[in-house]
Amino acid sequence: MKLFLDTANLQFIKKWAPTGLIDGVTTNPTHLSKEGADPTKQVMEICTIMKSYGDVSVEVTEQEPETVYKQAHAIAKLASNIVIKVPCSKEYYEVIKRLVADGIKINSTLVFSLEQSLLMAKLGAAYISPFIGRLDDIGVDGLHLIGEIRSMLDLYEFESKLLAASLRTVSHVHGVMLFGTDIATIPVAIFEKMMEHPLTEKGIEKFNVDWQKLGVKKFP
Ligand code: G3P
Repeated sequence: MKLFLDTANLQFIKKWAPTGLIDGVTTNPTHLSKEGADPTKQVMEICTIMKSYGDVSVEVTEQEPETVYKQAHAIAKLASNIVIKVPCSKEYYEVIKRLVADGIKINSTLVFSLEQSLLMAKLGAAYISPFIGRLDDIGVDGLHLIGEIRSMLDLYEFESKLLAASLRTVSHVHGVMLFGTDIATIPVAIFEKMMEHPLTEKGIEKFNVDWQKLGVKKFP
């Protein structure tokens, strides 16, 4: 299972990418807007940092399908490790088909159902990104959808990878792991929380106290 960071923040990407734990980055217009920098420069910097670690998903921001197609090509030219995020909206199906035929890797974003996932798999999207937290927001079990998409992709032997997005808690990460996601894209705060357990800290303290009782100066 791969872990992506769901952020456009350079500081955090620089901090965590070299650890060997991060296999990619997903950005979106909200993340880029939050950073406040020129988005072209920001994306290029992220791609440079991630060059030896994995790919970077960058979303189209145009609306009209032909303009989206052209923008996707322009974004893809910025770096060799870019994956283009296109919203899973029916007006962009033909654009997705053409981009896939052009050899551009597509991350189908804003996916909320098994049916949409099937259509995106058939169009050849490299990644299918269901939004778990946003389904929970409307009272639908997002984790259940991960299990359904997993079964569908395996049953019909599609090549698309399942990328669980909109993960808001450590429990979400726990759930998507058990439901067999290929990739979880995780906000930095959740990623950092995953490393912690109170019993780990408590255990270290106890071992230290017990070790001091032995009074040895050198070991080994
Ligand atoms: O990757 C998409 C994800 O960032 C959306 O998360 O919390 O805005 O639903 P959220």
